[in-house]
Amino acid sequence: MDSAPIGVVGTGYVGLVSAVCFAHLGHRVVCMDVDAAKIERLRQGQVPIYEPGLDKLLEDNASRLSYTTSYDELLEQCRILFIAVDTPPSPSGDADLSRVQHATREIAKRGGERLLVMKSTVPVGTGEKVMADLEALGADSMTYASNPEFLREGAAIQDFLDPDRVVIGCFREEDGDLVEALYRGIDTDVVRTSVPTAEMVKYASNAFLATKISFINEIANVCEQVGADVRTVAHGMGLDHRIGPHFLQAGIGYGGSCFPKDVEALKQLAGNSGYHFQLLNAVIEVNALQKRRVLGKLTAHLHKLRGATVALLGLTFKPQTDDLREAASIVLAGRLVHEGVHVRAYDPMIAAGGHPLFPGVTICADAMEALGGADAVVIVTEWPEFSRLDWAAAARVMERPLLIDGRNFVDPAAAVAAGFEYEGIGLGEPFAAAAPAPS
Ligand SMILES: NC(=O)c1ccc[n+]([C@@H]2O[C@H](COP(=O)([O-])OP(=O)(O)OC[C@H]3O[C@@H](n4cnc5c(N)ncnc54)[C@H](O)[C@@H]3O)[C@@H](O)[C@H]2O)c1
Repeated sequence: MDSAPIGVVGTGYVGLVSAVCFAHLGHRVVCMDVDAAKIERLRQGQVPIYEPGLDKLLEDNASRLSYTTSYDELLEQCRILFIAVDTPPSPSGDADLSRVQHATREIAKRGGERLLVMKSTVPVGTGEKVMADLEALGADSMTYASNPEFLREGAAIQDFLDPDRVVIGCFREEDGDLVEALYRGIDTDVVRTSVPTAEMVKYASNAFLATKISFINEIANVCEQVGADVRTVAHGMGLDHRIGPHFLQAGIGYGGSCFPKDVEALKQLAGNSGYHFQLLNAVIEVNALQKRRVLGKLTAHLHKLRGATVALLGLTFKPQTDDLREAASIVLAGRLVHEGVHVRAYDPMIAAGGHPLFPGVTICADAMEALGGADAVVIVTEWPEFSRLDWAAAARVMERPLLIDGRNFVDPAAAVAAGFEYEGIGLGEPFAAAAPAPS
């Protein structure tokens, strides 16, 4: 079974990275997507998403990769099929599994002995439902395994090829063995378990990481009240091995294509099963409020928002990606526009002009253009290039050099020395400090 190429259904952030990395491990891979434009670009050797290093790895392994929009073509060649389609939130907050269903049914219709491997993040119980669906469609010789993905956009290749763990859930041990064999060459812990447990590992991991973020953001908010510095608090906490240093950076809240939807989906999953997951309600609420705290900070400094000009630096949900899904910037920009603020923005991944996710926002070609004449600047995404900005020159082009650092990214003392009023997140006195009086 394993000499045939692997099929990957859905060539987005997860599917394409998985496909290219499996090719790098020596497997032949057929990538299938319903998006014909994406497949055409891939056939021409172009990478349709921004992910550092992916273009080079794809080029290096081009001979083992092929692309199609046709299920027939995919199934002529592949028996092990990874499903990596998107599972966005539905209006109820439950994961929308329509794309998963479409993919599994298209495969089932064509029959044959196949192993479906779920890489998409799906609620606990999905594997059992897919199996029931397959049975109802008469696809008796198809089996199923769960192999959730933990990669982070921006570091996806490293995460795939050097993961903290590989989790494999299966109904039949031999299916788990087949999936595990594909990862040969990767030295990591392999967690072999049941399908529902594998599905839960993914949700529980994302919910815990989101909890860490909301926790440190609340600590940051208290630090502002009591005159403590959350950066040092987080450092001091993180040195404790039971806590660890990761995901303790206070900021304007989590976003992206995974945390918001997965935390909400776990909350709904618990609710649907009769359990009220109280902690997750708080995690979600804290995150929603955190995005809005920047407005409070701007109001405290500017007194009146209507008519002010505010520059946003960074729009993507984090640096090193072009992904805008559920980015904190969308809520922040929307609120500011609603308050009558002229919003200008710059992000290295977003073309100048307008963008449908940011109605009323002028997107500029560079940071200095966005800052020109602004009454305040907010760092929304910590793109490395912002640390290299000439902040003294930036202060000079602004109407009022006020910097709200939503990611605690710029050195407060350097910002003040450059002429800024600076305020970060969770930095009690003295960094709510005003700029020194001009001499
Ligand atoms: N993006 C991440 O960082 C990340 C990390 C871990 C897990 N995940 C999970 O992986 C899954 C995929 O996420 P993503 O960010 O790669 O999504 P994506 O939107 O980038 O990619 C999904 C792809 O699937 C294609 N597709 C949709 N329906 C299809 C169908 N019926 N047949 C074939 N192709 C189809 C789309 O055209 C798209 O190219 C989601 O469940 C997500 O929660 C994402």
